[in-house]
Order: sequence, then structure tokens, then C-alpha cells
Amino acid sequence: MRARMPHDIPERLVRYEAAIEHAPETHAGSWLNDYGKGATRLVVDLGCGKGQFLSALAPQHPDCFFVGIDQEDLCIAYAAQKAIEQGIPNVRYIISDANKLPEQFGEEEISRLRINFPTPFPRAKHAPKRLTYFDRLLVYRKLLTRNGDIILRTDSQPFFDFSLTQFEQAGFDIAELTRDLHATDPGLLSTEYEDRLSEAGARIHALRATMAREPAAEQTAKRSLMDYLPDDLEHIEYVPYGMESAVVNFRNRRRKEARRAARAGKEDVNRNNPSANV
Ligand SMILES: C[S@@+](CC[C@H](N)C(=O)[O-])C[C@H]1O[C@@H](n2cnc3c(N)ncnc32)[C@H](O)[C@@H]1O
Repeated sequence: MRARMPHDIPERLVRYEAAIEHAPETHAGSWLNDYGKGATRLVVDLGCGKGQFLSALAPQHPDCFFVGIDQEDLCIAYAAQKAIEQGIPNVRYIISDANKLPEQFGEEEISRLRINFPTPFPRAKHAPKRLTYFDRLLVYRKLLTRNGDIILRTDSQPFFDFSLTQFEQAGFDIAELTRDLHATDPGLLSTEYEDRLSEAGARIHALRATMAREPAAEQTAKRSLMDYLPDDLEHIEYVPYGMESAVVNFRNRRRKEARRAARAGKEDVNRNNPSANV
């Protein structure tokens, strides 16, 4: 069942609009000048959700200015509400699709791009929508400062492994990597999805990528996230967010294949050993 959309989102967007930037393109190249008030680093949270993470992170880092971007106005309404109610001066939110980044930020302007629990889009044909797809990484390269980096967190092992191929081919080095962030680095601030998915049994995969080499001409990795799942799907303890139905279908297909193979094997035995039919 779909969650019901609260009716008051338009009113909330107006009530908390002081934390929302409606004309982000007018700040491209000058975010820190326009808003920074002494901040020296611009940090962007792409697909920021309802702002739990930035609301906790921004007050700890007055030397940074934070911009949260999400395509859902509901998310930005709640994120902006947190910023206003908590009186956080160094954050603004944008309702926008990630495709618009090059219009909204100047070249070499972003010090750090955070991508937390991006929508996985498991199917091969939707791979370009993933926020870590090769073409997008090439765009981020232009917007990041020379020493800039990208931090990715996800519950999804297949998404993470796919992303590693993309970072590699887009000319990034992986400066830090963990398959269990909460064990490696307990006490870090968490996002809404991180809390929810950790409670459901997820281990959090995380990496920090820095620009290292010239990118490849194109990406050549397999695009379906099913290709990055382990072979033994029967025994995986945690099914990544957004891949539930894909994993169920895949498991059923494998079971059917196994049953068919077992039946074919039995028929072979019977054919080779007619007395078995007696
Ligand atoms: C799974 S949620 C994660 C939210 C938050 N980062 C967290 O960790 O709790 C993914 C978010 O990314 C947003 N999103 C997905 N694709 C996007 C895109 N192309 N541009 C902007 N936002 C996007 C969705 O609207 C959603 O709020």
C-alpha cells in the first residue's frame, strides 16, 4: 500500500521557504560568496531525503556550507522545516533532479559530494538513472574542486559493487572503503534510510572516492544489479532495499531451473537403467 501524501506540503514549502533555494542557477559558481559567511567548503548532499543527516551534520561544521538536493518536494518540505526550526544557518535545500547539477554549480565549486542510500534502479535499462552511473561521475568530476571527493553510503552490496566499477572507469581512486560502516566507524551521524535499513539487518557499505586519472571513453560494466548479487541467493540474510521483488523473482527462476534439471536427471537415469522403471 502506498503511503498517503500529507496534504499540507505546499503550505510547508511556503512556511519554511527561507531554507529553500528556488533559483539555484543564480548561485552557480558563487555559493560560498552568496551564502557562505566565512565558510570555506561547499558540501552537496544529493538525494538528501528529509534532511535528518544534514540537520545533524551542518551545525557541527560551521566552516562548511551545505546544499541538500532532492527531487521530491515532500522531502524538501520536511528538510527545510528542520533547518528553520533548529535555526541552522549554513544549509539550503533545492527541489531538483540531479541532472540539473551543471546548471546549479560552477566548475570546481563543490568540495564534497555526498550520496547517501541512492535509489538503486536494479534493471539494466535504468542503470543511467543511478546516481553513481559513469556519465554522472564525469559530470561530478567537473564540479568537484581538485581535492574534492565523493562519499557514498548504501545498504546494497550489488549497487555498491556496480558503483565500484563506475568509479574505477570514471578515473576515481577509492581512498577509503568499508563493507560494514557501523563496525568500522561507530558513532557517525546517520541518515533516515540508514537507521531504517540498519534496523532491518543491513550492513552499510561506504566509500570515499577521489579523482585520480583520466576517465575511460565509456563504461563497460554489466548494468543489471542482478549480475552483482551472490550466486547463493537462498541464503543471503539481507535483501537490499529496492531489490526485494527482483530477488524473489530470481530465486523462483533458479528454483524452477533446479527442479527442471533434477527432473531431466531422473529421466536420464531411468532411460539408462530401464529396470528402475519396474
Ligand atoms: C532512498 S532515499 C535516501 C534518502 C536519504 N539520502 C537517506 O539516506 O535517508 C533516495 C532519495 O533520492 C532521491 N532521488 C533519487 N533520484 C534522484 C535524482 N535523480 N535527483 C534528485 N533526487 C533523487 C529520492 O527522491 C529519495 O528522496
